[in-house]
Amino acid sequence: MLCSAVLVNTTLSVTCPFTHGNPAETRFTWFRGNTSANGSHQNHSLSSVQLSDEGYYKRKVNTTMNPTVCATQEAYDETTFYADVQCSPRSLPFSAPVATVYRRINETAILSFTVVAYPPTIDASAYDWRKQVDSEWKSLHNNSRFQMSISNDRLQTNLSISQLQIDNFTNF
Ligand SMILES: *[C@@H]1O[C@H](CO)[C@@H](O)[C@H](O)[C@H]1NC(C)=O
Ligand SMILES: *[C@@H]1O[C@H](CO)[C@@H](O)[C@H](O)[C@H]1NC(C)=O
Ligand SMILES: *[C@@H]1O[C@H](CO)[C@@H](O)[C@H](O)[C@H]1NC(C)=O
Ligand SMILES: *[C@@H]1O[C@H](CO)[C@@H](O)[C@H](O)[C@H]1NC(C)=O
Ligand SMILES: *[C@@H]1O[C@H](CO)[C@@H](O)[C@H](O)[C@H]1NC(C)=O
Ligand SMILES: *[C@@H]1O[C@H](CO)[C@@H](O)[C@H](O)[C@H]1NC(C)=O
Ligand SMILES: *[C@@H]1O[C@H](CO)[C@@H](O)[C@H](O)[C@H]1NC(C)=O
Ligand SMILES: *[C@@H]1O[C@H](CO)[C@@H](O)[C@H](O)[C@H]1NC(C)=O
Repeated sequence: MLCSAVLVNTTLSVTCPFTHGNPAETRFTWFRGNTSANGSHQNHSLSSVQLSDEGYYKRKVNTTMNPTVCATQEAYDETTFYADVQCSPRSLPFSAPVATVYRRINETAILSFTVVAYPPTIDASAYDWRKQVDSEWKSLHNNSRFQMSISNDRLQTNLSISQLQIDNFTNF
């Protein structure tokens, strides 16, 4: 079975690996679940693919051969393929990020960053917390005062800063 991976909101184009016979009246039928579409085209495309478009598709090819001597013959073939819709990681669209966190000296601040990705195959090393120091961004590493954690599903990372000091009031 074929499997086509496609990113959400892009176009999935599939072509039928079919060589036209001689002479050929070829009909292609594309099925998805209980819906079907007949066409005379070898290519089928789904524009602006959504996650709900993921699933099994089937295509059938009928060719009517009209040999001059023999009786009319129908040649028939079908293939099933799976459209695997994926979306690349992006920051969570349905909750506005908390842009500013107000805390007092000596308190603890937790900065959270959440992404959506499907499938959620994000490597832990994909996350990099940085702190702005004199207009430069410096990567942070765990120490006794701050820790970076990543959720088990790897879709959220927190930077937790304990015992806030003046130096810590900046952009992250
Ligand atoms: C196709 O199947 C879906 C779910 O099983 C059903 O809701 C829908 O009515 C069916 N459509 C047709 C045209 O049979
Ligand atoms: C596709 O063509 C077949 C054979 O001509 C016909 O039975 C079927 O109803 C058609 N399906 C659609 C969705 O037009
Ligand atoms: C179908 O797609 C293939 C590969 O993308 C392309 O070479 C071919 O010209 C297309 N055929 C039609 C009828 O659009
Ligand atoms: C293609 O051939 C199959 C099997 O002979 C038949 O059931 C189907 O209706 C045909 N479809 C078209 C579009 O001619
Ligand atoms: C923060 O904690 C330190 C040590 O416990 C203490 O000396 C200091 O007064 C505290 N600062 C404020 C603003 O609470
Ligand atoms: C940083 O600290 C957190 C919480 O203690 C821990 O889960 C994580 O693995 C640490 N990361 C690194 C790179 O050491
Ligand atoms: C991040 O912090 C929030 C609370 O602010 C907590 O609910 C969540 O579990 C934390 N996530 C991780 C990955 O530590
Ligand atoms: C917070 O401030 C302390 C004291 O200056 C410093 O040691 C620490 O690296 C700072 N942490 C962050 C995440 O800025």
